[in-house]
Amino acid sequence: MIDLSSCRSQFPALNVKVGKYNAAYLEGAGGTQFPQRVIDAMVGYIHQGNANIHGHYLTSQLTDQMLLDARAAMATLLGASSPDEIAFGANMTTMNFALSRALARDLQPGDEVIITDMDHEANRSPWVELQEKGLVVKSIPVRTNDCTLDYDWLQKEINSRTKIIAVGYASNAVGTVNDVELVIKLAKQVGAITVIDAVHYAAHGAIDVQALDCDFLLCSPYKFFGAHIGVLYGKKDAFEALRTYKVRPQSTTPPSKFETGTQNLEGIAGSIQAVEFIASLGNLSDDHSLRERVLAGYDALERYERPLFERMVESLKEIPGVTIYGLPWDGKRTTTVAFTIDGVHASEVGKRLGEVGVFVMVGDFYATRLIEVLDLVEEGGVIRAGLAPYNTMEEVERLLEGVREIAQR
Ligand SMILES: Cc1ncc(COP(=O)(O)O)c(C=O)c1O
Repeated sequence: MIDLSSCRSQFPALNVKVGKYNAAYLEGAGGTQFPQRVIDAMVGYIHQGNANIHGHYLTSQLTDQMLLDARAAMATLLGASSPDEIAFGANMTTMNFALSRALARDLQPGDEVIITDMDHEANRSPWVELQEKGLVVKSIPVRTNDCTLDYDWLQKEINSRTKIIAVGYASNAVGTVNDVELVIKLAKQVGAITVIDAVHYAAHGAIDVQALDCDFLLCSPYKFFGAHIGVLYGKKDAFEALRTYKVRPQSTTPPSKFETGTQNLEGIAGSIQAVEFIASLGNLSDDHSLRERVLAGYDALERYERPLFERMVESLKEIPGVTIYGLPWDGKRTTTVAFTIDGVHASEVGKRLGEVGVFVMVGDFYATRLIEVLDLVEEGGVIRAGLAPYNTMEEVERLLEGVREIAQR
């Protein structure tokens, strides 16, 4: 079980105050706070002596080693079979643009790409814009009653012209965890490449890319206690076949062939400790492998956050005028909830909660299509509250109290 005070003591940002209120960061879905060990690793990298890679001197060799360690840590986090399947980059969006363009080099006009109405635009726009090359882009509708994907539609629409399916593991707006196993199975039946956006999911659930057997998966360590960088997993064969756009001196082999320009090395150094932080949550001894500790860490995180989430959702449901979007808390969703308050613009709710130190984001969070489908554009989108292992029941109660007051007016 997570020891809350020891967990919280690792996050300096929890000392921020708004007047008499301690900051309640219920905005992990937008980016989690940094534990001290990640900050130390980032600063430590710079202290130690910044260097470009592949030089014949000490700090360059240390940088090369750090990169190998970071690939290994991220491979372990994602369950990849080799560190060479892990590439780093600026952020998920930038990496997905590069990935989609590289994949599109092998597509013909009339080939089809399937995306979803639920996803963040980072996993929609790069594909939608490929229509200029004559590709046909189709989008899996969302069943608005429970904010799940319409898998029947997918079964009907998928066909031999489908070359790529790009789908989110979990929705950053409403927290739905998608049936990616089914999507990948259907994709395989027609030989389509799968691209999974795990940016939101990675903060909440363990990922096993080998069990999923997806071709590519992307995530962003700043959503799970790390720095502002992006990560691409590419399955060996798919990554080798990928015809990346690259500069001439760049290596032709994965993962370097995907990594253009100079990397955010201090951010990458921090990501090693982000994985270690997750692993530490399960309290397993170092006799266990890092993968075992990561799995125990996610398990502890889920066991800690779930009761808080139940309290949050059940209480929100009881407040007159509050509407919640998506499934109830039955385990097939992350600990992220989206709601509206009748007659109050979402930005007004965000502002009022911010005044009592409750930090929530409002709007569409770039899940622009989903908010259109839910017909919530006029209302300013939704209010999103999500949990991280440093959140407390007091913070949840403060959110609820604030929402009750706003709903009463
Ligand atoms: C589900 C999801 N996908 C993609 C992104 C984009 O990630 P990045 O900021 O690393 O480009 C986000 C960011 O909020 C997200 O929540």
